[in-house]
Amino acid sequence: MKISVIGTGYVGLATATVFAELGNEVIGADIDKEKIEKLNKGIMPIYEPGLKELVERNIKKKRLAFTNDNKTAIEHADIIFICVGTPPKDNGETDLKYVEKVALEIASTIKSYKVIVHKSTVPVETGEKVKKIIEANIKKNVDFDVVSNPEFLREGSAIKDTMEPERIVIGTDSKRASEMMKKLYSQIKAPMIITDVRSAELIKHASNSFLATKISFINAIARICELAGADVGKVAEGMGYDKRIGSSFLNAGIGYGGFCFPKDVQAFIKIAESYGYDFQMLKATHSINEQQKKFFVEKIKKALGNPNNKKIGVLGLAFKPNTDDMRFAPSVYILQELQRLGAIINAYDPEAMGKAKSLLNSINFCKEPYDVCINAEALLILTEWNEFKELDLEKIKSLMKHPIIIDGRNMYDPKLLREKGFRYFSIGRKDVV
Ligand code: UGA
Repeated sequence: MKISVIGTGYVGLATATVFAELGNEVIGADIDKEKIEKLNKGIMPIYEPGLKELVERNIKKKRLAFTNDNKTAIEHADIIFICVGTPPKDNGETDLKYVEKVALEIASTIKSYKVIVHKSTVPVETGEKVKKIIEANIKKNVDFDVVSNPEFLREGSAIKDTMEPERIVIGTDSKRASEMMKKLYSQIKAPMIITDVRSAELIKHASNSFLATKISFINAIARICELAGADVGKVAEGMGYDKRIGSSFLNAGIGYGGFCFPKDVQAFIKIAESYGYDFQMLKATHSINEQQKKFFVEKIKKALGNPNNKKIGVLGLAFKPNTDDMRFAPSVYILQELQRLGAIINAYDPEAMGKAKSLLNSINFCKEPYDVCINAEALLILTEWNEFKELDLEKIKSLMKHPIIIDGRNMYDPKLLREKGFRYFSIGRKDVV
C-alpha cells in the first residue's frame, strides 16, 4: 500500500520504517530540512536500537524515502499518518497547532479518497476537529475518512513495540477506512480493537495515565516502606504475582520523565476539566511524581550534608535507559537543584550527554563512568543503564573520596554494597550506613 507519514519524530519514524519493512511504499515527511537530509543519508536523528539498520535497508530497497515537502507525501499516499508533535501549552493543555496545519495541507492537496490517520497522542475529539478543518478547506468534492490509531511504542524499544504491539486500536465510523487499516495491519499479529474515534483517542490517554499512576503508586509505597523499615522491591514483587496487578511498572525510583507521561498526565487532567470532571486521582499522580524528585534531593542532602563545593559523580542522565532523550528527565531538576546548592557535578551517560549539554550548564561531562568517581564525595545513579550494573565496585570505591552511593533506580543490591564497604542509599529500602 502507499503510505505517508507526516512528522518523523519517534512515533513517525518508527511507523514509517516498520510499514516500509512490511513491504509498503512509504514516504516520511518533516519540515526539518537538516533532519531529512540526514535521514536520506542514513544518519538517525535519535538513538533507537535497530532503527538505523532498518531505515538503511528500506531506503536501499526503495520502499522508504524522506522529503521536506508534505504535499508530495500527501499526494503519494492512500493512507496518511499524522505523527507531528503535540507539545504542551504553558497551562498543560495540548497544543494542536501542528496537527491543524497538516490538516489544512491535506485539505488543499488531496484529489482522491484518502484515509487520514492521527497517531500522535491527542485530546479526545481531535479526530472531529481534523475532519471539520478538512471539510471546511477542501477544494474539490473529494471523499476522505479520519481514523484514530494511537501508538503505544516506548522509546528504547520503538521498533520492537511497533512490529509486535500488544494491541492495535482503530477508531473510525467508516467501514471503508477500517477495511484499509485492517489490510495495512494484516501482517502484524495482535488483538485489534475497532471502535469509534473518541474511544480510540481516550484509550491512549487512559493507558498512559494509568501507567503513570502505577509508578506514582509504587513511589508512594516506597516512601511508606522507608518510614516502616520495609523493602519496596519485595513489596512490589509480592504484589506483582497477582495477575490482576502485574509486575511491570512497579519499579520505585526518582519519578517518571520523558516526553509522554509528564505532558499526557497534565493534558488529561485538563481534558477531564473541560468536560467538568475534577480528576483528583491523576492530580495526585502528578504531585507524587514532583515530590519524588524533591525527596531524592533531600536524601542526597541527608547522606552527604551540605552539597556546597562538594564533588558529586553522576551516572545516567537520560529519562530512562536505551535512549538519548533528556526531555523532562528527572536528572535535570535534581542536578540543577544540586548546582543551586553549590555542588560540583561530573556526569556520564552512554547516549544522552549530547542532548544534556543544552539543558544543563556548568556540568563536567566525562568520557567514561569511572571518571565521574574520581575524588567524588558521593555517586548518584539517575538512569539504570545495563552497563552500570557491570561496573567494578572495588575500582569505584578506590577512586572516590568517600564511598557513598545514592541510587535513584535501586540498581544495586544493598547487601553487596554493604560487603564492599559503601554507605548506600536507595529508594524505599533500608539505608546501608
Ligand atoms: C510511554 C509508554 O510506556 C508508551 O506505551 C507510550 O506509547 C509512550 O509513553 C508515548 O505515549 O509515546 P516512554 O515515555 O517511552 O513510553 O517510556 P516508559 O518506558 O513508559 O517510561 C516512562 C518513565 O517512567 C521513565 O522515566 C521511566 O524511568 C519511568 N518508570 C517506568 C519508572 O519510574 N518505573 C517503572 O516501573 C517504569
